[in-house]
Amino acid sequence: MTAPAPLDHADLRALNTLHLPARAARLQPVEDAADLPALTAAVADRGEPLLVLGGGSNIVFAGDFAGTVLHMRTRGIELLAQDGDTVLVAVAAGELWHDWVASALERGWYGLENLALIPGTVGAAPVQNIGAYGIELVDRLQSVEAWDLEARQWLRLSVTECEMGYRDSVFKRRLAGRAVITRVIFRLSTVPDPRAQYADLQRELAARGITAPTPRDVFDAVCAIRRAKLPDPAQIGNAGSFFRNPVLDAADAARLLAAHPDAPHYPAAGGAVKFAAAWFIDRCGWKGVRRGDAGVHERQALVLVNHGQATAAELLALARDIQADVRARYGVAIEPEPVIVGG
Ligand code: EPU
Repeated sequence: MTAPAPLDHADLRALNTLHLPARAARLQPVEDAADLPALTAAVADRGEPLLVLGGGSNIVFAGDFAGTVLHMRTRGIELLAQDGDTVLVAVAAGELWHDWVASALERGWYGLENLALIPGTVGAAPVQNIGAYGIELVDRLQSVEAWDLEARQWLRLSVTECEMGYRDSVFKRRLAGRAVITRVIFRLSTVPDPRAQYADLQRELAARGITAPTPRDVFDAVCAIRRAKLPDPAQIGNAGSFFRNPVLDAADAARLLAAHPDAPHYPAAGGAVKFAAAWFIDRCGWKGVRRGDAGVHERQALVLVNHGQATAAELLALARDIQADVRARYGVAIEPEPVIVGG
């Protein structure tokens, strides 16, 4: 297939969920992964920088991008194998995450219900190991297929090789800027195994009078919670949680909890403790604050919003002030979650 023609000096405002104004020197749609070797070789030969864009829901364009943006628009859901209750399903990078979650549920492939309504594409999901309401992508991942821009070869990374952590993976580290994810292979089950331990989810199900939830019940409850707490990017620009929840080692966590015993916290790997960044930000009084069109969402302190015409500089200045305040008041460093590009 011939790749669609690129667009020069392309407006990226509609392609990032924060709706920040930025332009790409060239915007190249990708509708067939088989076009990647030739397309990316041409970009490299021109000596231009390359950026891979999915749904634009985890990115801050801090300025124009002086290179080629590959806009992943590949489609397709393929059942690769079924072994007893287990199905292996390959999904193209350009599929919309939520549509895939809904479609898996319709087909009776269970395990993704808790991840309903997360914005973005399937190809972006492994980069930050998306997670919500007690489940992370890593729990359902079998492998990832990608084009390696440096070695110029196809990669197939097992879930172990993806080195998934909390909002982290090999694609943010060793393979950052080097791998174009083309397909994600999921391991799902044809037997329902709903996970409803997360406190918010338990509350929502109880409010609905549900004691033995089906996967559909969990899906509906997660959608309701997210709609109630998180802004819809179609209505108000945002990139989901703007900060990662800080993870402290046992000693630092004990010190913090001695001073602030009411700080929400959860056990993390290796004896570490994860704290709720939203709680610190909220306690510092930032929830609902608005400076011009840059603001903190009124129902979830972890989410920065663009009320209309905010610039990246305004949003990033607000983020820096929040970071400084949380550090001064609680001695805790919180770091931005989205990828910041350009500027
Ligand atoms: N909290 C506040 N103020 C707020 C919001 C929350 O004090 O404005 C407190 C809550 O009371 C609660 C704690 O903070 O005790 C945690 O809140 P919540 O369960 O809403 O989760 P979160 O830590 O704010 C994380 C993820 C979300 C995910 C939810 C649910 C990160 C960075 N964020 O948020 O993911 O949907 O848990 O699992 O890990 C995203 O990554 O974009 C995202 C939305």
